[in-house]
Amino acid sequence: MTMTDYAFCKGLEYPSIVEASQRVAWTVDDIFANRRFDATRRTVPDSWVGTEHLAFLGDSEQRTLNHIRAFSYAHLLGNFEEFIPVQMSEVTGKDWHDDRPRLRALFRFGEEEMKHQQLFQRTEDVLEASCGHSIGRYFDPNKLRVTVFTKAVLGYPLMARFLLLTAFEFGTQRHYVESVQAGNGGGSDPLYVDVLKAHWIEESQHVKLDVLETARLAAGMTPAEVSEVFDGLLGLGGLIGETFVGQV
Ligand SMILES: [Fe+2]
Ligand SMILES: [Fe+2]
Repeated sequence: MTMTDYAFCKGLEYPSIVEASQRVAWTVDDIFANRRFDATRRTVPDSWVGTEHLAFLGDSEQRTLNHIRAFSYAHLLGNFEEFIPVQMSEVTGKDWHDDRPRLRALFRFGEEEMKHQQLFQRTEDVLEASCGHSIGRYFDPNKLRVTVFTKAVLGYPLMARFLLLTAFEFGTQRHYVESVQAGNGGGSDPLYVDVLKAHWIEESQHVKLDVLETARLAAGMTPAEVSEVFDGLLGLGGLIGETFVGQV
């Protein structure tokens, strides 16, 4: 089997991924443009927090929990993305002689994730400044936890990591859409919606690349080997689950 035999690769090719990625690129300063979050309102959809049914919480307590949830999303995702540039350099280091468009797509992908880390770091800082108080972080500023987490992730098979990335990327689309829909009924902060949108715009290029890379790896594997990769994906899910518990 070759990678082009997979139906899920139909219409996907590296040159158009690079072209789209150049067309939609943004900077963190473009997104923030000296704006702040409006701490008198909720930042993310209520569905992200899931505490509406807790009648003993007053309005301001619900709002504070909402701000904390908005913070935790940026904090966790920013740290999850730490392994991605390392993974892209792993692939380009191995296939450095390959087609230029594929290498450019992989390098751009890695660089964009470095930028996303800055986007989420800025989101954390501006959210705290807007709220007037600090918010607890699972990942410490000395980067001890993110180092342990990143090393653990990188210990899994490459294809399992590409599948994890695909899940993250489809997730960013859902989070953006949910935030816009919540905005229609009142809820999501406009700056936060812009952060989610900017992230998703680039992630929607990454998802194409990840699908192609997954197909490339799967083409050389037996069904038993592919099955092992899915066991690895479960392990990765466990690592992510630990960070959720830690941040809560
Ligand atoms: Fe990202
Ligand atoms: Fe990405």
